[in-house]
Amino acid sequence: MKNRLSRIIKPKDNRTVMLAVDHGYFMGPTTGLENLGKTVIPLLPYADSLMLTRGALRRYIPPETDTPIVLRISGGTSIVGKELLHEGIITSMKEAIRLNVAGVAFSILIGADFERDTLLGLAKVVDEAEEYGIPVVAVTAVGRDMNKDAKYLSLASRMAAEFGAHIVKTYYCENFERVVDTCPVPIVIAGGKKIDEKDALEMTYNAIQAGAAGVDMGRNIFQSSNPVGMIKAIRAIVHEGATPKEAYEIFKEEPLVEVRSE
Ligand code: R5P
Repeated sequence: MKNRLSRIIKPKDNRTVMLAVDHGYFMGPTTGLENLGKTVIPLLPYADSLMLTRGALRRYIPPETDTPIVLRISGGTSIVGKELLHEGIITSMKEAIRLNVAGVAFSILIGADFERDTLLGLAKVVDEAEEYGIPVVAVTAVGRDMNKDAKYLSLASRMAAEFGAHIVKTYYCENFERVVDTCPVPIVIAGGKKIDEKDALEMTYNAIQAGAAGVDMGRNIFQSSNPVGMIKAIRAIVHEGATPKEAYEIFKEEPLVEVRSE
């Protein structure tokens, strides 16, 4: 367990830049990930881990890649379905082991009608993962009509940790210290919808200042006008103590290489 956790959260500073490219499991061919491999492979040297589904791993990522994998193992609903994120287990622990993953990720949706199903799913996944020493990243998904505030996110994050998650992925919010301080396991933030690069860097900086262990970020990296520049800038904040201004300079100075699929 500790060995795998150390592959995700780097022991030298207890921080991590996780690259999330699992969106296709409920969003289909998300902008920037139409050809996932083409977008993601140039970003791998700067990612501490890669979060994706088994199908994407199998089809887009060469098996020689040594970036630690955090495997998305929950799903079952889509953005056009009636129950967004009423997820169950979509990949077995046996398959996760076969794919030699560093961790698995499972989403819960606290406050929804079906919260119980997602929580019992998390409990089952933690039980199975513990048996083989595999860390579980619990993702505190948020429904469209829910408040992404410190009250809600600290409730969801703490519950995830109490259920046995080893890392919690949640959203940044005002008073984020409250979310971090009341959660006994490391917290990483998702980036959410694409926002201006400067704002995404500011949000990352604020999250780190509040005590986050890092990011598990997707769209604000791979939908950026310069994904390599953006992941390098995020890295500088997470691992090197860069300010948002210094990080933005890193972003701006990165030569643009077209990596997207047409
Ligand atoms: C959400 O449940 C998935 O893990 C998303 O793919 C993840 O949150 C994406 O990160 P971002 O919001 O930074 O695109």
